[in-house]
Amino acid sequence: MKKWKVGVIGATGMVGQRFVTLLDGHPWFEPVCLLASARSAGKKYPEAVGEKWAMSSPIPEYAKDIVVLDAEADAERLVGKVDFVFCAVNMKKDETKALEEKYAKLEIPVVSNNSAHRATKDVPMIIPEINADHLSVIAAQRNRLGTKRGFIAVKSNCSLQSYVPLLHPLLSFGVKSAAVCTYQAISGAGKTFETMPEIVDNVIPYIGGEEEKSEVEPLKIWGKAEGDGIVNATAPVITAQCLRVPVSDGHTAAVFVSFEKKPTKEEILSAWANYAGEPQKLGLPSAPKQFIHYFEEDNRPQPKLDRMTERGMAVCAGRLREDNLFDYKFIGFSHNTLRGAAGGAVLLAELLAAKGYFD
Ligand SMILES: NC(=O)c1ccc[n+]([C@@H]2O[C@H](COP(=O)([O-])OP(=O)(O)OC[C@H]3O[C@@H](n4cnc5c(N)ncnc54)[C@H](OP(=O)(O)O)[C@@H]3O)[C@@H](O)[C@H]2O)c1
Repeated sequence: MKKWKVGVIGATGMVGQRFVTLLDGHPWFEPVCLLASARSAGKKYPEAVGEKWAMSSPIPEYAKDIVVLDAEADAERLVGKVDFVFCAVNMKKDETKALEEKYAKLEIPVVSNNSAHRATKDVPMIIPEINADHLSVIAAQRNRLGTKRGFIAVKSNCSLQSYVPLLHPLLSFGVKSAAVCTYQAISGAGKTFETMPEIVDNVIPYIGGEEEKSEVEPLKIWGKAEGDGIVNATAPVITAQCLRVPVSDGHTAAVFVSFEKKPTKEEILSAWANYAGEPQKLGLPSAPKQFIHYFEEDNRPQPKLDRMTERGMAVCAGRLREDNLFDYKFIGFSHNTLRGAAGGAVLLAELLAAKGYFD
């Protein structure tokens, strides 16, 4: 079977390291170029990533001899060498936007973890199990950019990955509003306990920009592809508080939800158990077999025990019960750098490949 050749921009970062690891032996994708800032360019990957390597497995063999390129200065060198790139960089918003458009205009599709283009109307923001149909706006984006195959497709923020997939199968009951408090891992800030010692024995009650993303991005995910872009949904209303907690990987969410037509507990559990999306129907390589895993035990899901459910690609839930103020409350959980970042982007790329967007 043909393999698509891939570049990873931001390969030395926390999310980039996940890409480098996940792409090792991937059945469809062959990583051939690794890119980062000018600081890393010209060095072999192990030297460029150095002490920052934070994965539990060693650097894959294939990556050891790759010389890191400068994502900005060397972009043209990728033309003809890669079929598409993943992008996860820590740059200013306007610089990230410009970088991603530069690759798209070089006819290199970009599958991005960055927030820069999430609000751009004709850039689809995809959770593959939920809104695969939004890929149709790529045609309008290509028109705007003047490209034949180049485009940008993005993932949503990692925080909402722990509750939007759980609210989505319940939309048929008329979700009116949801209040969410997220307890987010330090890898979400690109950190480890070594590089973020201030989090040990602590909770930091502020993550810049996160609450706005957690409230607004779901409305694009639940929007409609119409004309030249996505028209955002106007409901349900979501209010969010986001806290940084001393956990290495995995974001937990405490969720409260009200409905137009209050379902029974059994109806909610059945909606979760039976929910499947395009990745499950298409049998994509990174798709979890069961998208939502419900735990009956009162003390689950837990980051330490449950983050690797279905290779970190499942969404977990627990403690569903009635609430005094809202109709129900429950706990959601997902792995932030797998399902919430690199894994979710690889799944998105598999969806794009299966639908012919890289041909
Ligand atoms: N961590 C998560 O769970 C998570 C989840 C969802 C989305 N994201 C998003 O993913 C992106 C990356 O996050 P991260 O946690 O991986 O950050 P990170 O660990 O700080 O890594 C940042 C990467 O960006 C590269 N970079 C910085 N400036 C650059 C430039 N001018 N040109 C090219 N590359 C440059 C760095 O290269 P050097 O090593 O050469 O400096 C490094 O590879 C961010 O937009 C973040 O919001 C992260």
